[in-house]
Amino acid sequence: MLASGDWRGPGRWDYRRGSVSRDLIVVDGLEKEFRLGFARKRVRAVRGISFSVKQGDIFGFLGPNGAGKTTTLKMLTGLIRPSAGSATLFGHPIPSPKAMRQIGFLPENPYVYPYLTPTEFVEMCGRLSGLSGKAVRDRCRQVLERVGILYAADRPARRLSKGMLQRTGLAAALVADPELLILDEPMSGLDPVGRKEVKDLLIEERSQGRTIFFSTHILSDVETLCDDVVILRRGEIVVRGRLDELLRHEAKRTSVVLVDEQELMDEFCRAAGHRVERVGPRLHVDVEGRAEVQPLLERALAERVEIEQVLPRHETLEELFVREAIAGPEQRAAS
Ligand SMILES: Nc1ncnc2c1ncn2[C@@H]1O[C@H](COP(=O)(O)OP(=O)(O)OP(=O)(O)O)[C@@H](O)[C@H]1O
Ligand SMILES: [Mg+2]
Repeated sequence: MLASGDWRGPGRWDYRRGSVSRDLIVVDGLEKEFRLGFARKRVRAVRGISFSVKQGDIFGFLGPNGAGKTTTLKMLTGLIRPSAGSATLFGHPIPSPKAMRQIGFLPENPYVYPYLTPTEFVEMCGRLSGLSGKAVRDRCRQVLERVGILYAADRPARRLSKGMLQRTGLAAALVADPELLILDEPMSGLDPVGRKEVKDLLIEERSQGRTIFFSTHILSDVETLCDDVVILRRGEIVVRGRLDELLRHEAKRTSVVLVDEQELMDEFCRAAGHRVERVGPRLHVDVEGRAEVQPLLERALAERVEIEQVLPRHETLEELFVREAIAGPEQRAAS
């Protein structure tokens, strides 16, 4: 278990973990407005968001392109100033150099000096964080191995691929053994194996007591990884909560597969408003609402049509994301 630094903020009992849990990040009404060009056109990148990140959690910060994820992460890490609102890291108001000592940050496009090797770059980051001598060299090797880049540790950065640079950036974020990791798109640029490795790494880091706050669009990764999520849309929070609770909704749809060579059921399904797709002799029916399933099955039995599958479907994170973050309230109301 990692030391919890010098922060002594208020904690609360977490029944799931059986221990006291603290909010390491608290964001309250945070806003950022940019002014663009000669006309000073207003861009409201982040519009009064509030959420908190619990110690020991993996927190997914989601949203489509331009939703305001990077802008929020930059405000938290002190790279840009908020226009309004406030936030604390380890109880310190941002910007807080003191809090940053306990944080490892991976920016959206990690910049590694082109003439430095991963070893030189990560060692430099370690020294800037107060490590020195053999300790920094050992730790550097250890983290380069952890992110799977040790084999290329002595190549200049300008000769590395995008995924290799991403891994180097991740090693730099880990080198000082921070209590909190803030990662902007840690899986970006990685191949499927690399994504799996980073996912496993994040799970392992959490098991050692580290808290991870990361942004991403790769929802399949989030679904099995995160404890908590926020989904942003155009600078506003549209979904917030524990992932297991958000996805635990009662199954609203049922997928029914009928073997119906003589096309006896097509008309009935369309008239009932079900979405249907015919693949050869099979009719795939997507039924909305549990009450609608029974009449469909009764009709199939009456027509002596074989019922091959009846599968209640829970909403996936991808469906939740599309519904809330892409479709938006206007389309939701219309649908
Ligand atoms: N320096 C800036 N000046 C003006 N507008 C900006 C600036 N930085 C970001 N924006 C705008 O703020 C909005 C949010 O951008 P941001 O980079 O935070 O999105 P994001 O959620 O990280 O997107 P992506 O998933 O593509 O990385 C966008 O409309 C963007 O054009
Ligand atoms: Mg971004």
